[in-house]
Amino acid sequence: MSNALQDRIALITAAGSGMGRASAVRMAREGATVIVADINDEGAAETVRLIEAEGFGKGVAYHLDATDMGAIKTMFEFVDTEFGRLNVLYNHVGSPGPAGLQITDEQWELTVDLNMKSAFFATMYAEPLLRREAGKASIIYTASVSGLVGSLASPLYSMVKGSLVSFSKSLAMSLGPDIRVNVIAPGAVDTPMLTQFFGRDDESLAPERVKMFVETGVPLKRPCKPEEVAEAALFLASDASSYITGVTLPVDGGYVAK
Ligand SMILES: NC(=O)c1ccc[n+]([C@@H]2O[C@H](COP(=O)([O-])OP(=O)(O)OC[C@H]3O[C@@H](n4cnc5c(N)ncnc54)[C@H](O)[C@@H]3O)[C@@H](O)[C@H]2O)c1
Repeated sequence: MSNALQDRIALITAAGSGMGRASAVRMAREGATVIVADINDEGAAETVRLIEAEGFGKGVAYHLDATDMGAIKTMFEFVDTEFGRLNVLYNHVGSPGPAGLQITDEQWELTVDLNMKSAFFATMYAEPLLRREAGKASIIYTASVSGLVGSLASPLYSMVKGSLVSFSKSLAMSLGPDIRVNVIAPGAVDTPMLTQFFGRDDESLAPERVKMFVETGVPLKRPCKPEEVAEAALFLASDASSYITGVTLPVDGGYVAK
């Protein structure tokens, strides 16, 4: 612990579980006040409880349906009223996307809304608050290795996650020097979404598929822990990465190195 985020305000979407939760706890440990936004109120409350148990920083649970653009707007109005500023927007929310090309309107909408539209509108509403902390403001998006290299699992997921990579580069240009904008591209991370991703047609097949994936594709030969992504998120959120913007950082055990 080095108080790297002392007096900073961070907002993390999908922070009621997995990597979002681990990042919320990690950032609070560095002194941040973290708005823990999630559709799952119990998950968000548990994240806040974990933050409080450590006794550093602060957690504020916030109910968010990230598919609802009105709800995103209301959330940043809340941040404005409560804090009047924002240092870190970590738009982590997403969904695994359907297999193949034969998909429904609902599958399209959910995948695009959660992975892409939420990132755009969260950024739109967060921008004025982040600008108030110019030079100490950072945006992080969660893409995926599926946005960097081809994926047989879901072409739509690749499409939306790839869009975050180009979106972040455009924003790095337009929001600098006030706000830095970067992306984390996780590989296989041990969270409930990993099972959803590899078991979208049959959940019972997920463990074997994950095992195959890491044994054949991941040089470090194991799935990632959410806490390992949290370290990358802390780095990109803090002044430790003060000259880094417009990059996509794979946290993938070397998956995209091949
Ligand atoms: N787990 C992986 O292997 C992996 C790999 C690459 C990228 N990702 C990306 O990471 C993110 C998911 O993170 P995780 O693996 O930590 O997931 P997770 O399964 O641990 O948690 C997902 C969280 O998202 C919340 N959520 C779902 N729908 C929501 C909505 N409409 N509004 C607000 N919150 C909502 C859930 O309640 C849950 O708390 C996604 O963007 C996903 O594409 C995951």
